[in-house]
Amino acid sequence: MSFDLVLFGGTGDLAWRKLMPALFQAFRHGSLPAGGRIIGVARDALDDAAYRELIRARFEGVELAKRPNPEEFDRFAALLHYLRMDLSQPADFARLRERLAERDADTVVMYLATAPALFGPACEQLAAAGLNTPRTRLVLEKPLGHDLASNRAINETVRGVLAENQIFRIDHYLGKPSVQNLFALRFGNAMFEPLWRRETIANIQLTIAEDLGVEKRGAFYDSTGALRDMVQNHALQLLCAIAMEPPINAHADAIRDEKLKVLRSLKPWSAAALEQHLVRGQYTAGRVGGEAVPGYREEAGVKPGSETETFVALRAEIANWRWAGVPFYLRTGKRLAQRDARIVINFRPAPHAIYRSPLGGANRLVIHLQPKDGLELHLLAEGQDNRQASRQGPQPLAPVHLDLDFDKRFGVERVGAYERLLLDVIDGRLNLFVRADEQEEAWRWVEPILEHWRSGHAPPRPYAAGSWGPSASSAMIARDGYCWSEEA
Ligand code: BG6
Repeated sequence: MSFDLVLFGGTGDLAWRKLMPALFQAFRHGSLPAGGRIIGVARDALDDAAYRELIRARFEGVELAKRPNPEEFDRFAALLHYLRMDLSQPADFARLRERLAERDADTVVMYLATAPALFGPACEQLAAAGLNTPRTRLVLEKPLGHDLASNRAINETVRGVLAENQIFRIDHYLGKPSVQNLFALRFGNAMFEPLWRRETIANIQLTIAEDLGVEKRGAFYDSTGALRDMVQNHALQLLCAIAMEPPINAHADAIRDEKLKVLRSLKPWSAAALEQHLVRGQYTAGRVGGEAVPGYREEAGVKPGSETETFVALRAEIANWRWAGVPFYLRTGKRLAQRDARIVINFRPAPHAIYRSPLGGANRLVIHLQPKDGLELHLLAEGQDNRQASRQGPQPLAPVHLDLDFDKRFGVERVGAYERLLLDVIDGRLNLFVRADEQEEAWRWVEPILEHWRSGHAPPRPYAAGSWGPSASSAMIARDGYCWSEEA
């Protein structure tokens, strides 16, 4: 099968940081179908040779294990091409059409790794140039829009030119091996299903903590913020994976229908909830991993006095039969104490105590998403000193845990998120991509938060870089009698 992958934003941050390395890995692993072309598109004055040289130079900074050797790069570079385009110029789309006509590939992937404001106009131009054929697949990066209205407008334009099954809305968290394992845990094993509900679960915590700051994306991030960058998409998609009903099969729409139901069941924000169940934070200077780092407002590209949030913590509820009353605590932030994404399922305590155990609710399932990919099951057991117990009756129980590390267990390098998702697009598998209605529902739910913040009600609370966010985040969860897992 031949393919052309047209990478709009071909010299941009995403193309460089995620897409080229992923395409190279797919090439190295032999999973990229032979006979493909990757056509970088941008406004820079480059030709094929200069583009290849640029990519070669950029690979020099990549960790050794993921860096091509010169011979490998030459073979990979033979796939790379470049087309200079201004996305507002119909003549440039005509040139793209000519370039694609050179070989008439079976599949043409248009990957819009550009600012979302260009999604609508670029699609209109593609259609005007007759490039929306049945062979076309379109990949849209997140965030898709800035709010519900802009998201709808983009989706309307895009769906005006392509069928829904040609549109691949990417959320790279869905491509992570650890997230595949979450699905496998829930839908490939029967033992957790009877426990996966309000009768047995006290609360669920989802943390996506990053130790990095905004890197070189200060200007983009400053107009985006953590709610749009992480919560509206990655965190809510993970929430769906945790809370959804088992799909009837593994087909894309069966999975997406179930995720949509979760999003529709999210309890809408009330004025009281916006005050009590939502924390907005912004990092100040501090130390991360032993190194001094600047505060958010000192980062390049960030407006002085910016009120953009770099941290969000919130309490959500899913108003359905399975989850009514179970709090779902979500938090994400930059410059936190460590890079750590995990889901913690806290089970209810034993209903009747026969042991002198101080630990209520000691059963906990921790699903590590990154950097570790694994599972921990926390239990109580009789401690080592059971001689005492035999003389004095039951002793306090001690916490122990079963620990499964998938990387160690499987011992092979797993396919990375972007690599997997890019191959899915080329092969036409939609399972791990987000449908328009899911995305709209997610925007609908976060919209009142944006509105609340716009009205100046809740300026971000400062937190020192290297901490776990503002203390209000711990206070929010403590009001329900719980604490975040690292405080437990
Ligand atoms: C991206 C966000 O979608 O996800 C970034 O725009 C964030 O701000 C990144 O750093 C996190 O992804 P990962 O895979 O490194 O956890």
